[in-house]
Amino acid sequence: MPLFYDDLIEPTIVRQVSKSVAYCRCTRSKNLPFCDGSHAVTNVKPFILELNEPETIAICRCWKSKDHPYCDGTHGRLVKPKERPPHQHGRNPG
Ligand code: FES
Repeated sequence: MPLFYDDLIEPTIVRQVSKSVAYCRCTRSKNLPFCDGSHAVTNVKPFILELNEPETIAICRCWKSKDHPYCDGTHGRLVKPKERPPHQHGRNPG
């Protein structure tokens, strides 16, 4: 199933039980938010998150978090494409 921009706005809640997990930063992974190696054709590397014990975390999917891979709430301030007013190219408003 393809992912659409709207699907990527909300963070993914992950119960991370492994000590070390690679989270995608290149946006090409087909297994978001996890790295699947698709970054190999880019110069972007995954974020390796290491935890001492299992923890539930929110992983950013809007790619605007200032604390990536963690969600920092920025997605809540973004306007989803389908909520934007339609473009009025070349039209005179009024
Ligand atoms: Fe995106 Fe690895 S697939 S960082």
